[in-house]
Amino acid sequence: MAAKGRQYYGRTAPRKTPSSTLVLLVLIMLSLLIVILLSLGILSIPSSSAKGSPKAHDLSFIAHNSIHFGGGDEGSRDQWVEVISWEPRAFIFHNFLSKEECEYLISIAEPHMEKSTVVDNETGKSKDSRVRTSSGTFLARGRDKIVRNIEKRIADFTFIPTEHGEGLQVLHYEVGQKYEPHYDYFLDEFNTQNGGQRIATVLMYLSDVEEGGETVFPAAKGNFSSVPWWNELSECGKGGVSVKPKMGDALLFWSMKPDATLDPSSLHGGCPVIKGNKWSSTKWMHVHEYKV
Ligand SMILES: *[C@@H]1O[C@H](CO)[C@@H](O)[C@H](O)[C@H]1NC(C)=O
Ligand SMILES: *[C@@H]1O[C@H](CO)[C@@H](O)[C@H](O)[C@H]1NC(C)=O
Repeated sequence: MAAKGRQYYGRTAPRKTPSSTLVLLVLIMLSLLIVILLSLGILSIPSSSAKGSPKAHDLSFIAHNSIHFGGGDEGSRDQWVEVISWEPRAFIFHNFLSKEECEYLISIAEPHMEKSTVVDNETGKSKDSRVRTSSGTFLARGRDKIVRNIEKRIADFTFIPTEHGEGLQVLHYEVGQKYEPHYDYFLDEFNTQNGGQRIATVLMYLSDVEEGGETVFPAAKGNFSSVPWWNELSECGKGGVSVKPKMGDALLFWSMKPDATLDPSSLHGGCPVIKGNKWSSTKWMHVHEYKV
Protein backbone atom coordinates (compact mmCIF):
# COMPACT_ATOMS: atom_id res chain seq x y z
CA MET A 1 0.00 0.00 0.00
CA ALA A 2 2.78 2.35 1.02
CA ALA A 3 4.82 1.58 -2.07
CA LYS A 4 1.78 1.95 -4.24
CA GLY A 5 1.06 5.26 -2.58
CA ARG A 6 4.56 6.48 -3.33
CA GLN A 7 4.24 5.32 -6.90
CA TYR A 8 0.95 7.02 -7.21
CA TYR A 9 2.34 10.26 -5.86
CA GLY A 10 5.51 10.09 -7.94
CA ARG A 11 3.74 9.42 -11.21
CA THR A 12 0.71 11.60 -11.15
CA ALA A 13 1.47 14.54 -8.85
CA PRO A 14 2.95 16.74 -11.62
CA ARG A 15 -0.15 16.24 -13.74
CA LYS A 16 -2.59 16.74 -10.87
CA THR A 17 -0.94 19.97 -9.51
CA PRO A 18 -2.43 22.84 -11.50
CA SER A 19 0.29 24.23 -13.78
CA SER A 20 -0.65 27.80 -12.69
CA THR A 21 0.54 27.00 -9.16
CA LEU A 22 3.88 25.87 -10.54
CA VAL A 23 4.24 29.01 -12.63
CA LEU A 24 3.43 31.07 -9.54
CA LEU A 25 6.04 29.23 -7.51
CA VAL A 26 8.68 29.79 -10.19
CA LEU A 27 7.77 33.47 -10.36
CA ILE A 28 8.08 33.85 -6.58
CA MET A 29 11.47 32.13 -6.66
CA LEU A 30 12.61 34.42 -9.50
CA SER A 31 11.40 37.53 -7.67
CA LEU A 32 13.25 36.44 -4.55
CA LEU A 33 16.39 35.89 -6.61
CA ILE A 34 16.09 39.36 -8.20
CA VAL A 35 15.52 40.99 -4.81
CA ILE A 36 18.62 39.23 -3.46
CA LEU A 37 20.70 40.27 -6.49
CA LEU A 38 19.45 43.87 -6.24
CA SER A 39 20.25 44.05 -2.54
CA LEU A 40 23.74 42.73 -3.21
CA GLY A 41 24.19 45.37 -5.93
CA ILE A 42 24.85 42.72 -8.59
CA LEU A 43 21.82 43.91 -10.57
CA SER A 44 20.74 47.52 -10.95
CA ILE A 45 17.54 49.12 -12.17
CA PRO A 46 18.20 51.09 -15.35
CA SER A 47 17.09 54.70 -14.84
CA SER A 48 17.01 57.68 -17.15
CA SER A 49 19.96 59.23 -15.31
CA ALA A 50 22.08 56.26 -16.24
CA LYS A 51 21.24 56.77 -19.89
CA GLY A 52 23.09 60.04 -20.41
CA SER A 53 21.00 62.72 -18.74
CA PRO A 54 23.25 64.65 -16.37
CA LYS A 55 23.69 64.22 -12.63
CA ALA A 56 23.69 67.33 -10.49
CA HIS A 57 27.44 67.67 -10.13
CA ASP A 58 28.51 66.27 -13.46
CA LEU A 59 29.78 69.28 -15.40
CA SER A 60 30.89 67.33 -18.45
CA PHE A 61 27.47 67.71 -20.08
CA ILE A 62 27.61 71.50 -20.17
CA ALA A 63 28.11 71.95 -23.90
CA HIS A 64 25.16 69.73 -24.77
CA ASN A 65 22.48 70.72 -22.32
CA SER A 66 20.98 73.71 -24.07
CA ILE A 67 17.55 75.00 -24.96
CA HIS A 68 17.31 76.90 -28.22
CA PHE A 69 15.11 79.91 -28.69
CA GLY A 70 13.70 81.09 -31.99
CA GLY A 71 14.85 84.40 -33.46
CA GLY A 72 11.51 86.09 -32.71
CA ASP A 73 11.51 89.84 -32.31
CA GLU A 74 15.00 89.72 -30.82
CA GLY A 75 16.47 89.83 -34.31
CA SER A 76 18.15 86.89 -35.96
CA ARG A 77 20.74 86.05 -33.30
CA ASP A 78 20.86 82.53 -31.96
CA GLN A 79 19.87 82.38 -28.28
CA TRP A 80 20.17 79.41 -25.96
CA VAL A 81 20.58 78.66 -22.28
CA GLU A 82 23.35 76.52 -20.82
CA VAL A 83 23.40 75.02 -17.33
CA ILE A 84 26.80 75.79 -15.81
CA SER A 85 26.32 74.40 -12.33
CA TRP A 86 23.57 73.26 -9.95
CA GLU A 87 25.51 74.22 -6.80
CA PRO A 88 25.37 77.17 -7.14
CA ARG A 89 22.49 77.37 -9.60
CA ALA A 90 24.13 79.14 -12.55
CA PHE A 91 23.09 79.47 -16.19
CA ILE A 92 24.39 81.26 -19.28
CA PHE A 93 21.88 82.85 -21.64
CA HIS A 94 23.83 83.20 -24.88
CA ASN A 95 23.36 86.36 -26.95
CA PHE A 96 21.03 87.83 -24.37
CA LEU A 97 21.96 91.37 -25.49
CA SER A 98 22.52 92.56 -29.05
CA LYS A 99 25.83 94.20 -29.98
CA GLU A 100 23.96 97.53 -30.24
CA GLU A 101 22.59 97.18 -26.69
CA CYS A 102 26.08 96.40 -25.32
CA GLU A 103 27.55 99.43 -27.07
CA TYR A 104 24.67 101.61 -25.90
CA LEU A 105 25.13 100.64 -22.22
CA ILE A 106 28.86 101.38 -22.42
CA SER A 107 28.26 104.72 -24.14
CA ILE A 108 25.80 106.01 -21.51
CA ALA A 109 27.91 104.75 -18.60
CA GLU A 110 31.37 105.78 -19.75
CA PRO A 111 31.14 109.51 -18.88
CA HIS A 112 30.16 108.65 -15.28
CA MET A 113 32.62 105.90 -14.32
CA GLU A 114 33.95 106.07 -10.76
CA LYS A 115 36.23 103.81 -8.77
CA SER A 116 34.19 100.83 -7.53
CA THR A 117 33.50 100.39 -3.84
CA VAL A 118 32.44 97.42 -1.76
CA VAL A 119 29.86 97.28 0.99
CA ASP A 120 31.36 97.16 4.48
CA ASN A 121 30.02 93.98 6.07
CA GLU A 122 29.72 95.59 9.49
CA THR A 123 28.51 99.14 8.89
CA GLY A 124 26.72 98.50 5.58
CA LYS A 125 28.36 101.61 4.07
CA SER A 126 30.26 101.75 0.79
CA LYS A 127 34.02 101.78 1.05
CA ASP A 128 37.11 101.65 -1.17
CA SER A 129 38.79 98.31 -1.32
CA ARG A 130 41.73 96.54 -2.84
CA VAL A 131 39.56 93.46 -3.42
CA ARG A 132 37.62 95.37 -6.08
CA THR A 133 39.70 97.46 -8.44
CA SER A 134 37.29 98.15 -11.30
CA SER A 135 35.43 101.37 -12.04
CA GLY A 136 31.70 101.60 -12.45
CA THR A 137 28.44 103.52 -12.37
CA PHE A 138 24.74 102.85 -11.73
CA LEU A 139 22.06 103.47 -14.36
CA ALA A 140 18.66 104.44 -12.97
CA ARG A 141 16.06 101.68 -13.31
CA GLY A 142 13.83 102.27 -16.31
CA ARG A 143 15.86 105.34 -17.36
CA ASP A 144 15.08 104.94 -21.08
CA LYS A 145 13.39 102.64 -23.57
CA ILE A 146 16.47 100.49 -24.30
CA VAL A 147 17.23 99.97 -20.60
CA ARG A 148 13.53 99.20 -19.88
CA ASN A 149 13.60 96.64 -22.68
CA ILE A 150 16.66 94.92 -21.20
CA GLU A 151 15.14 94.99 -17.71
CA LYS A 152 11.95 93.40 -19.02
CA ARG A 153 14.01 90.64 -20.65
CA ILE A 154 15.86 90.05 -17.34
CA ALA A 155 12.49 89.73 -15.56
CA ASP A 156 11.33 87.21 -18.18
CA PHE A 157 14.52 85.16 -17.85
CA THR A 158 14.67 85.15 -14.02
CA PHE A 159 10.90 85.10 -13.27
CA ILE A 160 11.55 88.01 -10.90
CA PRO A 161 9.62 91.25 -11.54
CA THR A 162 11.59 94.32 -12.68
CA GLU A 163 10.53 96.13 -9.47
CA HIS A 164 12.72 93.73 -7.45
CA GLY A 165 15.88 94.83 -9.28
CA GLU A 166 18.43 97.48 -8.41
CA GLY A 167 19.47 99.83 -11.22
CA LEU A 168 21.93 98.30 -13.69
CA GLN A 169 25.54 98.73 -12.69
CA VAL A 170 28.04 99.05 -15.54
CA LEU A 171 31.60 98.00 -14.74
CA HIS A 172 34.91 98.44 -16.49
CA TYR A 173 38.00 96.32 -15.75
CA GLU A 174 41.35 97.15 -17.34
CA VAL A 175 44.41 94.88 -17.44
CA GLY A 176 45.16 93.67 -13.90
CA GLN A 177 41.81 94.76 -12.50
CA LYS A 178 39.67 92.16 -10.70
CA TYR A 179 37.07 91.48 -8.05
CA GLU A 180 38.13 88.97 -5.36
CA PRO A 181 35.65 86.17 -4.58
CA HIS A 182 32.68 87.43 -2.56
CA TYR A 183 28.97 86.84 -2.01
CA ASP A 184 26.29 89.05 -3.47
CA TYR A 185 24.06 88.49 -0.45
CA PHE A 186 24.41 90.67 2.63
CA LEU A 187 25.38 89.74 6.15
CA ASP A 188 24.35 93.09 7.65
CA GLU A 189 20.98 94.54 8.60
CA PHE A 190 21.50 97.84 6.82
CA ASN A 191 21.57 96.58 3.22
CA THR A 192 18.56 94.29 3.50
CA GLN A 193 16.18 97.06 4.60
CA ASN A 194 15.30 97.89 0.99
CA GLY A 195 13.93 94.83 -0.82
CA GLY A 196 15.24 92.24 1.63
CA GLN A 197 18.06 89.90 0.73
CA ARG A 198 19.55 89.71 -2.76
CA ILE A 199 18.24 86.51 -4.29
CA ALA A 200 19.85 86.41 -7.75
CA THR A 201 22.31 88.21 -9.99
CA VAL A 202 22.34 88.64 -13.75
CA LEU A 203 25.79 89.52 -15.02
CA MET A 204 25.91 90.62 -18.64
CA TYR A 205 29.15 90.78 -20.61
CA LEU A 206 29.28 93.90 -22.76
CA SER A 207 32.62 93.04 -24.37
CA ASP A 208 34.79 90.06 -25.22
CA VAL A 209 38.00 89.76 -23.20
CA GLU A 210 41.07 88.42 -24.99
CA GLU A 211 42.53 86.76 -21.90
CA GLY A 212 41.47 86.49 -18.25
CA GLY A 213 38.48 88.32 -16.79
CA GLU A 214 36.52 85.11 -16.22
CA THR A 215 33.73 84.95 -13.66
CA VAL A 216 34.86 82.19 -11.32
CA PHE A 217 32.87 80.18 -8.74
CA PRO A 218 35.55 78.68 -6.47
CA ALA A 219 33.04 77.00 -4.13
CA ALA A 220 30.99 75.30 -6.86
CA LYS A 221 30.46 71.55 -6.59
CA GLY A 222 31.74 69.41 -9.44
CA ASN A 223 34.80 68.71 -11.53
CA PHE A 224 35.99 72.17 -12.67
CA SER A 225 38.22 70.77 -15.41
CA SER A 226 35.41 69.00 -17.21
CA VAL A 227 34.08 72.22 -18.77
CA PRO A 228 34.73 72.26 -22.53
CA TRP A 229 36.57 75.61 -22.39
CA TRP A 230 39.01 74.50 -19.65
CA ASN A 231 42.14 75.00 -21.80
CA GLU A 232 41.19 78.62 -22.57
CA LEU A 233 41.00 79.64 -18.90
CA SER A 234 43.56 81.70 -16.99
CA GLU A 235 45.17 80.30 -13.83
CA CYS A 236 42.60 82.23 -11.78
CA GLY A 237 39.81 80.87 -13.96
CA LYS A 238 40.97 77.32 -13.26
CA GLY A 239 40.32 77.88 -9.55
CA GLY A 240 36.63 77.09 -9.92
CA VAL A 241 33.78 76.67 -12.37
CA SER A 242 34.41 79.56 -14.74
CA VAL A 243 32.54 81.52 -17.37
CA LYS A 244 34.47 83.27 -20.11
CA PRO A 245 33.20 86.76 -20.92
CA LYS A 246 31.57 86.97 -24.33
CA MET A 247 29.85 90.08 -25.63
CA GLY A 248 26.07 89.80 -25.24
CA ASP A 249 26.06 86.71 -22.99
CA ALA A 250 24.27 86.90 -19.63
CA LEU A 251 25.18 84.82 -16.59
CA LEU A 252 22.37 84.20 -14.10
CA PHE A 253 23.22 82.79 -10.69
CA TRP A 254 21.25 82.47 -7.46
CA SER A 255 22.49 83.62 -4.05
CA MET A 256 19.69 81.73 -2.37
CA LYS A 257 18.74 78.07 -2.58
CA PRO A 258 15.23 76.91 -3.48
CA ASP A 259 14.54 76.56 0.26
CA ALA A 260 15.22 80.34 0.65
CA THR A 261 18.42 79.94 2.67
CA LEU A 262 21.65 81.69 1.62
CA ASP A 263 23.82 79.64 -0.74
CA PRO A 264 27.53 79.79 0.18
CA SER A 265 28.39 77.99 -3.08
CA SER A 266 27.44 81.24 -4.87
CA LEU A 267 30.85 82.65 -3.88
CA HIS A 268 32.22 84.25 -7.07
CA GLY A 269 34.92 86.59 -8.29
CA GLY A 270 36.07 88.45 -11.37
CA CYS A 271 39.50 87.17 -12.46
CA PRO A 272 42.16 89.77 -13.35
CA VAL A 273 42.03 90.87 -16.97
CA ILE A 274 45.26 89.70 -18.63
CA LYS A 275 44.76 91.03 -22.13
CA GLY A 276 42.08 93.40 -23.40
CA ASN A 277 39.29 95.27 -21.63
CA LYS A 278 36.28 93.95 -19.77
CA TRP A 279 32.94 95.72 -19.71
CA SER A 280 30.06 94.14 -17.86
CA SER A 281 26.69 95.09 -16.45
CA THR A 282 25.15 93.67 -13.29
CA LYS A 283 21.52 93.44 -12.21
CA TRP A 284 20.96 92.48 -8.59
CA MET A 285 17.52 91.11 -7.79
CA HIS A 286 15.97 91.14 -4.33
CA VAL A 287 13.45 88.96 -2.56
CA HIS A 288 10.98 91.88 -2.32
CA GLU A 289 10.35 95.06 -4.27
CA TYR A 290 13.40 97.31 -4.32
CA LYS A 291 12.35 100.95 -3.95
CA VAL A 292 14.28 103.51 -6.00
C1 LIG B 1 33.56 91.14 7.90
O1 LIG B 1 34.67 90.84 7.08
C2 LIG B 1 35.87 90.61 7.82
C3 LIG B 1 37.01 90.48 6.83
O2 LIG B 1 36.60 90.10 5.56
C4 LIG B 1 35.66 89.36 8.67
O3 LIG B 1 36.83 89.11 9.41
C5 LIG B 1 34.48 89.58 9.60
O4 LIG B 1 34.23 88.42 10.33
C6 LIG B 1 33.25 89.97 8.81
N1 LIG B 1 32.15 90.32 9.71
C7 LIG B 1 30.93 89.81 9.58
C8 LIG B 1 29.90 90.32 10.54
O5 LIG B 1 30.63 89.00 8.71
C1 LIG C 1 37.65 65.79 -14.32
O1 LIG C 1 37.33 65.92 -15.69
C2 LIG C 1 38.43 65.73 -16.55
C3 LIG C 1 37.96 66.04 -17.97
O2 LIG C 1 36.74 65.43 -18.26
C4 LIG C 1 38.98 64.31 -16.39
O3 LIG C 1 40.08 64.14 -17.23
C5 LIG C 1 39.38 64.11 -14.94
O4 LIG C 1 39.80 62.79 -14.74
C6 LIG C 1 38.22 64.42 -14.02
N1 LIG C 1 38.70 64.37 -12.63
C7 LIG C 1 38.04 63.72 -11.69
C8 LIG C 1 38.63 63.79 -10.32
O5 LIG C 1 37.02 63.09 -11.91
